[in-house]
Amino acid sequence: MREFIYYSKSAVTSGTFIKEDLMQAGRMDIAINVVISCFFLSHDIRKDVRLHLVFEGRPNPPVHIKIEYDKNLPISKKDVAGLIKRILFKCPREKGKVVNVFPGCFVEKKSLNELIEELDLQGKNIFLLDKNGEDIRNINLKGNEVFLIGDHEGFPHEKKPLLKRIDKISVSLKTLFASHVVVLIHNEIDRQSI
Ligand SMILES: C[S@@+](CC[C@H](N)C(=O)[O-])C[C@H]1O[C@@H](n2cnc3c(N)ncnc32)[C@H](O)[C@@H]1O
Repeated sequence: MREFIYYSKSAVTSGTFIKEDLMQAGRMDIAINVVISCFFLSHDIRKDVRLHLVFEGRPNPPVHIKIEYDKNLPISKKDVAGLIKRILFKCPREKGKVVNVFPGCFVEKKSLNELIEELDLQGKNIFLLDKNGEDIRNINLKGNEVFLIGDHEGFPHEKKPLLKRIDKISVSLKTLFASHVVVLIHNEIDRQSI
């Protein structure tokens, strides 16, 4: 299973805030590109992917959306925004409750710190994607990795204590779009046939 976390301090946390202009929805356009890069191949869909979206924008942060392959996952490249909007509408107000909105789609109130802690307890190997990290080609990938990627602003200052505990890896010498980072990670794993 390939597991990714996309974190955004600005992505909105209510379906009503997703309108035509996705950039105005806390750069929801970036989250959508990440979803597409995680799941879509040319004429095919990746079945071994789980994506966590952690949004901390207005009005109800934090929200954790989990999307994983399911044969009935209602995902279409043309309307990822519509899918996220419908999932956000179903986010419970209270913590500790997870709503299974569609096959393969879950939503709950959970922070990035709580998610990282949970994945850590599950024995996952978490990596922070960072241009200045260790080259991913020097890492012996085992198949239990979780790749944490930031939005257009990276990560806010208050996340520093959390992030300094996580190993950093790099996929390029250039600063890339979050969705491009996903593609390169897929490529590295594909080439290693993990
Ligand atoms: C557009 S970049 C963010 C740029 C932001 N100004 C910053 O300094 O973090 C979005 C995310 O992609 C990831 N990223 C970008 N380039 C990368 C690289 N060469 N290697 C690994 N991760 C990278 C990082 O996780 C980053 O937070």
